[in-house]
Amino acid sequence: MKKLVVGNWKMNGSLGANRQLLESVVAGMPKGELCDAAVCVPSIYLFQIQDLLGKTDLKWGAQDVSAHEQGAYTGEISAAMLRDLGCRFTLVGHSERRLYHGESDQIVAAKAQRALSCGVAPIVCVGESLAEREAGETMTVVKRQLAAVIHAVGHCVSEIVVAYEPVWAIGTGRTASPEQAQEVHAVLRNQLIAACGHSSAVPRILYGGSMNATNATDLLAQPDIDGGLIGGASLKAADFLSILSAASAE
Ligand code: PGA
Repeated sequence: MKKLVVGNWKMNGSLGANRQLLESVVAGMPKGELCDAAVCVPSIYLFQIQDLLGKTDLKWGAQDVSAHEQGAYTGEISAAMLRDLGCRFTLVGHSERRLYHGESDQIVAAKAQRALSCGVAPIVCVGESLAEREAGETMTVVKRQLAAVIHAVGHCVSEIVVAYEPVWAIGTGRTASPEQAQEVHAVLRNQLIAACGHSSAVPRILYGGSMNATNATDLLAQPDIDGGLIGGASLKAADFLSILSAASAE
């Protein structure tokens, strides 16, 4: 299966900066579509991004989606709206949403389900905090977070994407070692095999958390790491392109 590399711009960008960044990324993308690539942008820019990327190999998505279908939910954006704007993906349950917006496993699962129902693949983020890792709870936490989504989406589990993002590695420059990441990815893969009934139906499992041009090759070489979710390094064309090259070489 091709690797998938997704940029998570978080709350960064402007009309001018987006154009500049994406023009450089598209111009430098490895030829031959040896890996899949996407950017998850602030929703306010989706209209611009659709215009800029519509005829390119770079796909796009959002960073969050409402758990509700439509109606009186001021400030929310529905999965159908994301689909309208050409989104192939949306992040759900990013640790910054869980932490700053109190999103529970159940809310994250409802969002994943809502996205799938509109043909938008949810990139389900799971990951332990530093305190949880130090208490030996890593596997319990990530399995619980993923189980909620598996339970909600039922037989559609092969249509999601999973991203393992240890909270202590996000934006800190402190990456999980390839061995630490692989250990968790293998556990997640087994959980997904059990849910899908077959290993060939298992969705891609991305690693995220300070992945950059220097460490991408070693992380992506791990047998159970199927791609990356890239924050800071996705805002610099050269760095994002290096990660795309590393993913294309695998
Ligand atoms: P980072 O962010 O690459 O800046 O650590 C990853 C993420 O939060 O998705």
